[in-house]
Amino acid sequence: MSKQWWKEAVVYEIYCKSFCDSDGDGIGDLKGIMSKLPVLKDLGINCIWFAPIYTSPQVDNGYDVADYRNIDPAYGTIDDFKTLLDMAHSMDIRVIMDMVLNHSSDEHEWFKESRKSKDNPYRDYYIWQPPKNGKAPNNWGSYFREGNGSAWEYDAQTGEYYLHQYAVKMPDLNWECEALRKEIYAMLHWWLDLGVDGFRLDVFTRLKKTEGFPDTTKQPGPLDRNGFIVDTSMCTNVKGIHEIIHGLHTEVFGPRGCMTVGEGANVDDTNVLDYILPEREELNMVYHFQLAHRALLSMTPAHFRNVQTKWANVFAKGGWTVQYMSNHDSARQVSCYGDAENYREASAMLLATLLHTTPGTPFVYQGEEIGMVNVTYDSIDDYNCCYTKGDYHSMIQKGSSRKEAIKALAPRSRDNARTPYQWDDTENAGFTSGKPWIKTNPTYKEINLQADLNAENSIFKYYKEVIALRKTHPAIIEGELQFLLSEHPHAIVYLRKCEAETLLVIANYRSEATTVELPDEIKTQKWQRILSNYKNTQPSIDGRKEWMPWEAEVYVLA
Ligand code: NOJ
Repeated sequence: MSKQWWKEAVVYEIYCKSFCDSDGDGIGDLKGIMSKLPVLKDLGINCIWFAPIYTSPQVDNGYDVADYRNIDPAYGTIDDFKTLLDMAHSMDIRVIMDMVLNHSSDEHEWFKESRKSKDNPYRDYYIWQPPKNGKAPNNWGSYFREGNGSAWEYDAQTGEYYLHQYAVKMPDLNWECEALRKEIYAMLHWWLDLGVDGFRLDVFTRLKKTEGFPDTTKQPGPLDRNGFIVDTSMCTNVKGIHEIIHGLHTEVFGPRGCMTVGEGANVDDTNVLDYILPEREELNMVYHFQLAHRALLSMTPAHFRNVQTKWANVFAKGGWTVQYMSNHDSARQVSCYGDAENYREASAMLLATLLHTTPGTPFVYQGEEIGMVNVTYDSIDDYNCCYTKGDYHSMIQKGSSRKEAIKALAPRSRDNARTPYQWDDTENAGFTSGKPWIKTNPTYKEINLQADLNAENSIFKYYKEVIALRKTHPAIIEGELQFLLSEHPHAIVYLRKCEAETLLVIANYRSEATTVELPDEIKTQKWQRILSNYKNTQPSIDGRKEWMPWEAEVYVLA
């Protein structure tokens, strides 16, 4: 087994709550996932990332963990998990767990103990500070902007505040505490002993906080309120963070040889190498937010080339990253970066082509492979996402109408990605026989897996093709990236070259036909088309000048 299997892998993220419900309670579960493993096998992915499935009060859908060593009862049992793991392994699908190490739920036993008294043995597992002039210890704002927006919550029992970068019910863990570190190491070993293959590390850059908890001097942003300011720099990439991640490597990741991928909040091509160069002994790879992000609602060829070129340098220096445009924290990629209204299928396929033929490990988010699209709910009550709700309250407090607030927030709400998976055109998209925990996207009548399986050409079938290419074309994994026509306003054209072969990718990134004049040295070579999202276009570049709306093709040098 290759030690670096993750370079060859295609990872599929499952957000269990919305994937498949086997028992009609409206919540996806492990048995539901088991029933769909053959679909994933058919798709060709070979690694699953489970967004958190641990016991949790579900304030942030599992990112608030109440027991790191158990499965949430709504999802199943630890025995169900073991069965699922065995099933996946028997299909050559690896499994990585989402590890939320920055915070836990306030319902975790550690926190219940910690808040009891200042001398409780668990007190130091969390970050407690006395009030300052009768108020919060500083002006840090929390990301989810609940209540008055502060990142500190007063706890009357001991008269101190605890830090929570996210929800009030998600207290930050204290990585300065040796005993806490040891608990975490033991817990990670426990999952590896169970047989999992690696970890996705939630907001790992935020484990270290600025010493002394000084006020931020940053100016308030439009959504900050009551003097509490969200300033990522106070708790992100803070000096000392590498010692923590290296510690995790020394104690767990290194000796166990498991795969690690970090969620790179505030990581970019300039600071990533310190986290991922093999000799640093920290993580295998980090996924960044430079290409796509919840707040980035559109993309241009120039942006795509610019980011990929920067990351090509990271690869050249020995780093590795993830290729993705959406996950459970973003809107649907085809709605943001494609043309979901007029060219949903072609543009979804084009995006897949780009993500699966640029350097790095592609991560597919559930539903992306059938081109699921964004949803807009009329009322804030239908939304679940903590950001959407917090930002909504900020906007209302600052004078927006309810309608205006929803209009502004809907396109980037994380709930776009969290609607039930659309399996077929029966009620609730075949996700549940009960009432889904979040409203189904009404598009399920047309957009669903069954429709894609029935169609001769479909997004799902295209994903199968592009994923399969990774297994037969080494240039996709190890090839150097070289953009051609790098000033072209609409076309994205590049080569992937390794010793064994050269690939050429041509993508027309817009909803109109586009003229592309390929360089002479390319035109004079002999290329064979190996993938295309238009089955009826000329399968060669000979004399070709025009590419169809959202047309994407991959050629190999004959
Ligand atoms: C990043 C996760 O991906 C997101 O869903 C979550 O809300 C925050 N971290 C807090 O855990």
